Amino acid sequence: MPHRFDFLVLGSGVAGLSFALQAARHGTVAVLAKRERAESNTAYAQGGIASVLAPTDTFDAHIEDTLVAGAGLCHRDAVEVTVKEGPGRVRELVELGAEFNRRSTGEFDLTREGGHSARRIIHSGDITGREVQRALLAACDEQPNITFFPHTAAIDLILDRRTPNPAAHRCLGVYALLENGDIERFLAKVTVLATGGAGKVYLYTSNPDVATGDGVAMAYRAGARVANMEFYQFHPTCLFHPEAKSFLISEALRGEGGKLRLKGGATFMERYHPLGALAPRDVVARAIDAELKRTGDECVYLDMTHLGRAFLMERFPNIYATCRAFNIDMAVQPIPVVPAAHYMCGGVVTDLDGRTTVPGLYAIGEVACTGLHGANRLASNSLLEGLVFGYRAVKVAVEELRTHAPPKEEPPAWDSGSAVESDESVVVTHNWDEIRRLMWNYVGIVRTDKRLMRARRRLELLREEIRDYYWRFKVTRDVIELRNIAEVAYLIVDCASRRKESRGLHFTLDYPHTDDHHWLRDTVLSREL
Ligand code: FAD
Ligand code: SIN
Repeated sequence: MPHRFDFLVLGSGVAGLSFALQAARHGTVAVLAKRERAESNTAYAQGGIASVLAPTDTFDAHIEDTLVAGAGLCHRDAVEVTVKEGPGRVRELVELGAEFNRRSTGEFDLTREGGHSARRIIHSGDITGREVQRALLAACDEQPNITFFPHTAAIDLILDRRTPNPAAHRCLGVYALLENGDIERFLAKVTVLATGGAGKVYLYTSNPDVATGDGVAMAYRAGARVANMEFYQFHPTCLFHPEAKSFLISEALRGEGGKLRLKGGATFMERYHPLGALAPRDVVARAIDAELKRTGDECVYLDMTHLGRAFLMERFPNIYATCRAFNIDMAVQPIPVVPAAHYMCGGVVTDLDGRTTVPGLYAIGEVACTGLHGANRLASNSLLEGLVFGYRAVKVAVEELRTHAPPKEEPPAWDSGSAVESDESVVVTHNWDEIRRLMWNYVGIVRTDKRLMRARRRLELLREEIRDYYWRFKVTRDVIELRNIAEVAYLIVDCASRRKESRGLHFTLDYPHTDDHHWLRDTVLSREL
C-alpha cells in the first residue's frame, strides 16, 4: 500500500523544514531525507543569513547589492520579495529558539561578506546553518502532523498521465528507495522539491555527499522547466588539505578583515577589483584561479594572523578548531585555500510562490530557480531564500488541498522488471569519478567551447551507459545519485554551451565579454515529452 499524505516534502534542510512547519497547520506532512534528517547543505552553512536588521541598513541597499551580484539576470520581483519578507522570517526563527550572536547591547551582531555594502549577516558563530536546522527540527518535532522518513531516497516523480496533454500531467508523489532496499510509493496532493544543490557534480566541492542534484534531475525528467544551470557558484576559499574534503573557510573571515595572499606573502585582489578580497565571489574565485595558473602554485592563503587568537577563537570556533585538527594554527599562520563548487544558482523554474511548471509540484530552496540569484548569488542570500519561499509556497499549496482530489486509481507500484543484483559496481564508482573530474576540468571556473564540447561528448556516452545499467540492475542509492549527477552535469554543459558571452559565474575565453544585447535573459531548458 502506498503512503498517503496531504503534503510530501523531499528534503529536510532550511527550505523543506520551513515549508513543513507551516504546512502542518493545514494537513499531514511527510518529510523525506536521503540520509539522517540533519544531513544537508543547510547543516554546513557557516557565514549566516543576510537580512536588513540594522537601523542604518535599508531594503534598497540589500536589493541593489543582490542585483549587482546577479549581473543583470536577477528577477527584480523575486529579489524584492526575498529582501522585504526576510526580516520577518528571521524574527520567526528567533521566536522558535534559534540563537544568534548578539553584542553586549543586546542587538544582533551583524557581519559582512563579499558584495554586501553593509554589515547585514546575522550569524550563530560560524555554525549558523546547524543552529537554524536544529531550531527548525525541534519545532517540527512538536507537530504531530509531521512524519520524517530518513534514509529514504526519492527516485522519480509519479505523474498522472491519463490526459493526452503532457503539460497537464499532475505530480502525484514519488517512488522512493527505503534503507532496506524496498521501493515504495509516497503519494500526496502537493509534492515539494527541497532537495538542495548539486555540488557533488564537481570533483571539489564544499557540499556534503547528499548534494547530487536529485530534485533538478527528477523535475527535468518529468518535463519541468529548468534554467540557468551554467551559473554554478565556486566558493573562493575551501581549506586546501589532502584530508579536509573541501572544508569551507567562510567568507565572513574576509568580512572581518582576512587578507588573501600568494605564497610569498603578496596580496593580489586589489589588482582585480576595487573591493579587493570582498569583491563578489565570482571575481574572487576567478582571480584565485588565474593566480594559481600564473604561478603554478597549488593554493593561495587567507591571512587572519593580525586579528589575534582570542578574537578568532571566539568568532570562528568551528573553523579555528578544524584548522587546528589539520595542524594549521590560524592565529599564527595563513590558511591554505582553493576554490570549490559551492552553490547552484540555476534550478527548477518557479513562480514567486514556488510553483513549478508541473501541476502539483513545487520547488523551494537551492533546487529552485526563483530569479533571486540571477547569474551569481550574493553571499548568505540562500538560507534567506529557503526561509522566505518555504513560507510563501505553503500559502498557495494549501489551496490545492481544497481544489484537487487525488485520482481514484492508484498509480502502479514500482516494477523492477527483470533487474538483478549488480555484479559490476565498479561501473558506478568509475563513472561517478569520471563525471566529477571532467566537470572540474572542462566545465569549471573558466570555460571554452572546445572544453564544453569535449564534456558533452563524454557525458553523452556516460549517460547511455548509466541508463543501460539502471534498467539492468536493481536500484541502489549510488545508482540513483550517479544517474542524477550525469543528468545535472549534462544540463550544466547544455546551458553553458548555449550562452555565448561571459556573465556572472559563467566565464568563457571564447566570449570573454558580457553581451547585454543578445544574452540579457535566462537559459531555459525543458525536455521534449
Ligand atoms: P539542503 O539544506 O541541502 O537540504 C537538502 C535535503 O534534501 C537534505 O535533507 C537531503 O537529504 C534531501 N534530499 C536530497 N535528495 C533527496 C532525494 N532524492 N530524496 C529524499 N531527500 C533528498 N548559505 C547562506 O545563506 N549562508 C551561509 O553562510 C552559507 N554557508 C554555506 C556553507 C557551506 C559549506 C555550504 C555547503 C553551503 C552554504 N550556504 C550558505 C548555502 C546554503 O547552505 C544552502 O543553499 C541551503 O542550506 C540549501 O537549503 P535547502 O533546504 O534548499 O537544501
Ligand atoms: C560562507 O560562509 O562563506 C558561505 C556563505 C554563503 O555561501 O552564502
